[in-house]
Amino acid sequence: MTEYWQEELETINRKDLEKLQLTRLWQTIERAAKSPFYQKVFAERNISVDTVRTLEDLQKLPFTTKDDLRKSYPYGMAAIPLKECVRLHSSSGTTGNPTVVLHSAKDLSEWANQVARCMYMVGIRDTDIFQNTSGYGMFTGGLGFQYGAERLGCLTIPAAAGNSKRQIKFIVDFGTTCLHIIPSYAVRLAEVMYAEGIDPRKDTKLHTFCIGAEPHSEEQRQRIEQMIGVKAYNCFGMSEMNGPGVAFECKEQNGLHIWEDYTIVEIIHPETLEPVPEGEVGELVLTTLNREAMPLIRYRTRDLTCILPGECRCGRTHKRIARFKGRSDDMIILKGVNIFPIQVEEVLMQFKELGSDYLITMETIDNNDEMLIEVELGDFSTDDYSRLQNLTKTITRHLKDELLITPRLKLVSKGSLPVQEGKAVRVRELRIKN
Ligand code: COA
Ligand code: AMP
Ligand code: ZN
Repeated sequence: MTEYWQEELETINRKDLEKLQLTRLWQTIERAAKSPFYQKVFAERNISVDTVRTLEDLQKLPFTTKDDLRKSYPYGMAAIPLKECVRLHSSSGTTGNPTVVLHSAKDLSEWANQVARCMYMVGIRDTDIFQNTSGYGMFTGGLGFQYGAERLGCLTIPAAAGNSKRQIKFIVDFGTTCLHIIPSYAVRLAEVMYAEGIDPRKDTKLHTFCIGAEPHSEEQRQRIEQMIGVKAYNCFGMSEMNGPGVAFECKEQNGLHIWEDYTIVEIIHPETLEPVPEGEVGELVLTTLNREAMPLIRYRTRDLTCILPGECRCGRTHKRIARFKGRSDDMIILKGVNIFPIQVEEVLMQFKELGSDYLITMETIDNNDEMLIEVELGDFSTDDYSRLQNLTKTITRHLKDELLITPRLKLVSKGSLPVQEGKAVRVRELRIKN
């Protein structure tokens, strides 16, 4: 057994896996009780490690939500002293409290193992040259894959997001064989390659893509595979659960194995909050099993998926979840960046020149996913073109700072947005998702 190919763990029989989960769950509850947040929750509900005798008893524990994380900003979820934490990741946003995720050195090492395990599963080896097109900094797809690929022993290129021509130069010159890439960007990159006269099948050594961070269809995966001549594997992660590596498709490409030695997986009805049977779509709820700095119990991801019934032909015993069907909240993902419409509203409302009506349109233009924000002006004349241009620039800059993507902003005269009856529709989804 090596750190990244863990046959005994990946093919462990369900009974032993559940025993391991229960032991780790007890440790998790004990650790969590040391954080200010869970200390209070446990005291209010009289919860201790004795509350949980079997895995089913997990349901006696309350859910944890993104809102709990926001309210605990910045360090209310820390279960170990800050001195023992070595990394902090935070979500975007300056208008409200972002979420913070803390890691100990052991947490980071476990996370690297988890990502390396996923990569090994789809055939990536230490002889591969792995280029990461994810944003670095706070985006966990950056450092998460970086350390995972290095743990596996790949020659790893932290190219980061953007600059497609440079990405392609690296791919060609360095002989890149594997990419971590967001599906919508993979299509864009392929288009740029073709425009540059590069045939990815002949002129590159690419063979494997890890694609994730945003919803995509089976058709989109196949399109990427055909455009570039690679195998593309779906990868799920979220910052609250470390980042990439929570669940990953094996070579069967039929659902994502969710690593149950790292997390307990539940699927609940998003309204009744009751568990739903295998095969039925509901909200994914995850409990961390070996995190030290910030254990999370029954975390409501808001992602909609189901457990795929039956065993996987690859022999791994960890459950498989289906490709995501959407979210149970209003979060939008654009270019791998999470955006809540309220963030847009909060920025717009800071400008006294603007009225209160706005419309966000998500669209695909020339293979690029974009966000158009149309907003009505208040008492501001559209005749003064240069003032209007300056205002547009200023607001766009504020929006970019808040959202981390650049929207197209159109300031329109009062009363020109469609009149809406009842609850205003603020977001239109017109993106092409195959
Ligand atoms: N990943 C990498 N590069 C991307 C991208 C993506 N998801 N989406 C767009 N790009 C490229 C664009 O093609 C463009 O490069 P090019 O003109 O040389 O082709 C460049 O990034 C800028 O794109 P643009 O749309 O003008 O910028 P923006 O300001 O709206 O967005 C990004 C800026 C792309 C840098 C930002 O959206 C980002 O960092 N995305 C990646 C997020 C991520 O890694 N998430 C993973 C979480 S696990
Ligand atoms: P972040 O915390 O920025 O990594 O974003 C996490 C969110 O991205 C998840 O909760 C999902 O909504 C989305 N996401 C991540 N991976 C995938 C994937 N493979 N398919 C669909 N959505 C994904
Ligand atoms: Zn499998």
